[in-house]
Amino acid sequence: MRVAIIGQGYVGLTIAVGAASAGHEVVGFDVNHQLVSALNSGKSHIEGISDTDLAGFLGFGAYKANSDPSVLEGCDVIVIAVPTPLDDARNPDLSYVHAAADLIEKNIKSRALVINESTSYPGTLRKEIASRITGVAHLYASSPERVDPGNTQWGTKNTPRLIGGLTPEAVAKAKEFYSTFCDTIIEVSSPEVAEAAKIFENTFRQVNIALVNEFAQIADALGISGREVIDAAATKPYGFMEFNPGPGVGGHCIPVDPSYLAHVANEVGVPATFIKRANEVNLAMPAYVVKRVVAGSGGSIKGKKVVVVGISYKSNVADTRETPAAGVIDLLRAQGATVTWHDDLVGSWRGETSAPIKGADIAVLVTKHDGLDLAALKGCGYVFDCTGTIAGADGI
Ligand SMILES: NC(=O)c1ccc[n+]([C@@H]2O[C@H](COP(=O)([O-])OP(=O)(O)OC[C@H]3O[C@@H](n4cnc5c(N)ncnc54)[C@H](O)[C@@H]3O)[C@@H](O)[C@H]2O)c1
Repeated sequence: MRVAIIGQGYVGLTIAVGAASAGHEVVGFDVNHQLVSALNSGKSHIEGISDTDLAGFLGFGAYKANSDPSVLEGCDVIVIAVPTPLDDARNPDLSYVHAAADLIEKNIKSRALVINESTSYPGTLRKEIASRITGVAHLYASSPERVDPGNTQWGTKNTPRLIGGLTPEAVAKAKEFYSTFCDTIIEVSSPEVAEAAKIFENTFRQVNIALVNEFAQIADALGISGREVIDAAATKPYGFMEFNPGPGVGGHCIPVDPSYLAHVANEVGVPATFIKRANEVNLAMPAYVVKRVVAGSGGSIKGKKVVVVGISYKSNVADTRETPAAGVIDLLRAQGATVTWHDDLVGSWRGETSAPIKGADIAVLVTKHDGLDLAALKGCGYVFDCTGTIAGADGI
């Protein structure tokens, strides 16, 4: 099939490579010209796809990035994989999804299968995409992406894929497409079920992470180790699922997607109280971390040299979107500390570059990447560990 993927970020490039490896002819469409040039020169910007793999697909013509909308015409399948962030008031911002729909409306005159993989609330495919595209009777399906960047066990191929379509023909076509590179396809009765399943999955994580973050604070106040309690509880073979505390949640999904559910819940008159409370708890974690760091450093960090170690939002990825490290750094600075950060994967961020760990009075381990120099970390005067890595250190 000739396939166009709109958006070449974490999700779009991953799907593009999956489809190219299955023998489809793939166009990676993106409005970011710099990104398009980098991809066409064989430079991947995401962890799971190597430059060598990308160069291979480019080399035998299975993949090409493009920012010229005319290349979309004649494609059999169009996949939308654009950002779905929150606006300043923490409400859904569907402007990128609308722009992708408008792009299809304007540039594709032959009938295609249009699939939305972007995460959004139930009703998005039907009301925000299909209803905006007039003139051609395309087929429409929703298949929310579940990719977990950096996860080496579960990828595009072996993570079961949900599909819901506006018509049986759309479902059949979407199954035909995805079955060329995904092992397990699960058909659900409507796109709304597929869309809701995706945001419920991430809400489940958000709420459970908040619960465990609140529990970590209770355990610390009780003078017991929250992590030891969680490990003990996790020995129960049924009815318990382990989540671990941390400095907050980051990335494009967990801090964002539940608010999409809360938005539609409010519209239908059911206040999503768990989501609201979970947001409050998770967003307050950087302040809790800094409070503990100050307390553990004798009540003041004024004038102290603090290094924050690991600033991406999770291990072994360079993604700093919504990272809780930002709040930790800002609040440490507000306490009068001289703060640097160390993260070889990120390199540069917010106009600053990664600094050495060695020589700091205080180290705050926010995210642990493989290959972390533990000796340098332990050499700092005081270490606060948000990751449960260093036995005996203060932390959560
Ligand atoms: N990153 C993840 O781990 C993950 C996992 C599952 C689902 N999702 C969801 O997938 C969607 C995409 O996320 P992402 O992480 O890939 O985002 P991203 O920011 O990494 O990439 C999005 C890309 O879309 C491009 N873009 C924006 N508007 C465009 C337009 N009109 N036409 C063409 N390209 C356009 C941007 O330039 C960017 O390169 C979001 O809805 C997200 O919630 C993300």
